[in-house]
Amino acid sequence: MTQKTSNQMWGGRFAAGPDAIMEAINASIGFDKRMAAQDIAGSRAHAAMLAAQGIISDKDAEAIREGLLTILSEIEAGQFTFSTALEDIHMNVEARLKEVIGEPAGRLHTGRSRNDQVATDFRLWTRDQVDAAIEGLKALMQALLAQAEAGADWVMPGFTHLQTAQPVTWGHHMMAYVEMFARDLSRFTDARARMNESPLGAAALAGTSFPIDRHMTAEALGFDRPAANSLDAVSDRDFALEFLSCASICAMHLSRMAEELVIWSSAQFRFVVLSDRFSTGSSIMPQKKNPDAAELIRAKIGRIFGANVALTMVMKGLPLAYSKDMQEDKEQVFDAADNLMLALAAMTGMVGDMTANRPALEAAAGAGFSTATDLADWLVRALGMPFRDAHHVTGSLVAKAEAKGCDLPDLSLTEMQEVHEAITDEVFTVLGVHNSVASRMSYGGTAPARVREQIARWKDTLS
Ligand code: ARG
Repeated sequence: MTQKTSNQMWGGRFAAGPDAIMEAINASIGFDKRMAAQDIAGSRAHAAMLAAQGIISDKDAEAIREGLLTILSEIEAGQFTFSTALEDIHMNVEARLKEVIGEPAGRLHTGRSRNDQVATDFRLWTRDQVDAAIEGLKALMQALLAQAEAGADWVMPGFTHLQTAQPVTWGHHMMAYVEMFARDLSRFTDARARMNESPLGAAALAGTSFPIDRHMTAEALGFDRPAANSLDAVSDRDFALEFLSCASICAMHLSRMAEELVIWSSAQFRFVVLSDRFSTGSSIMPQKKNPDAAELIRAKIGRIFGANVALTMVMKGLPLAYSKDMQEDKEQVFDAADNLMLALAAMTGMVGDMTANRPALEAAAGAGFSTATDLADWLVRALGMPFRDAHHVTGSLVAKAEAKGCDLPDLSLTEMQEVHEAITDEVFTVLGVHNSVASRMSYGGTAPARVREQIARWKDTLS
């Protein structure tokens, strides 16, 4: 029976190669090749440091660094043959380096391990995604700001329980999402600051006896500092979990907004018209224009939050330091990141393209007795009534209008006075939806003047 030969990178003590199933469960090259650029950047920084510390010669370091660049261009050009037998990106690159530059390649792995190597690569990869998420969020906030600015004083119904509550402005509603996405952005920024420590040089788990300079490699890779504990450095995946938590909250916000767009674009609401570019048709119903992008964005939280839960479950119960379980971290984060970026871009496109239906918004704003609170407030202000009594009187007026099948402003003064004799016709000045929103001048309120202040503040912050 022919046995496969043992692994060329670590097979010294092995007489036989792995079973095909062993290879299949063990290999990560199928997905971790996405970290090729990070792996090569880490190795180039490591080689330069080894030479600076006199651990390898300048000549060898130069050959390694050049060879790695050659490999990077091979990978980028799609000319690199990835091998499952070589397990992962780290060993694929190193084995190829041996083919490209020969003997000096064997010196690269001095004073490091795949454990600190993978932790470094994955941090760099995740950090790039944090930066991409921040850029994606900024673009989305700009699109929302443009919508808010165009309709700062357009009235629409504000809802609680999805029941008409009080009139609000379109600008105010758009700016609510700006606040949410701004918090997402700030969460990613915080996560970035915490994740920006270099594991490189932690080696397998205990550090190394070679006189390495971890500060040098940390700096070369854009990290703020080396991670302070080698055991922690190789086994910490908090950075990935934090990315997934931030991504989950952001995806939840996207899902809420997507849900509103699905509702708003329906024939029953007609609050917005989505562009053709971000809608799809039905293969059987010719009249249909479906908000598929919004629906898919609404769904993305499922897999993104799923990744967050999955990796948390992988990490729980792992003893220090590295365990192979951790290899299961990458696909979750890759998939979550891909889908978050796609969802952000799709939402930005949809928001940028959509047209608010101003007449429909305005018509809906006054429906459902939406200015009842304004009426109660007027009773308090003009007649000195306690708010609880005013609430009761207003309730009776609503019941009267409902019985008559009209809205509050359609009741006559006489009909109002049948409910409370002190009401004067001044009351009609507060019943219009425009008066209603304009009066809500409290800080953070829906008055167009307030909304414009917030738009100006955010435009300033984002520029
Ligand atoms: N492919 C591995 C991973 O993603 C790299 C680290 C392997 N380390 C080891 N001691 N076998 O986790």
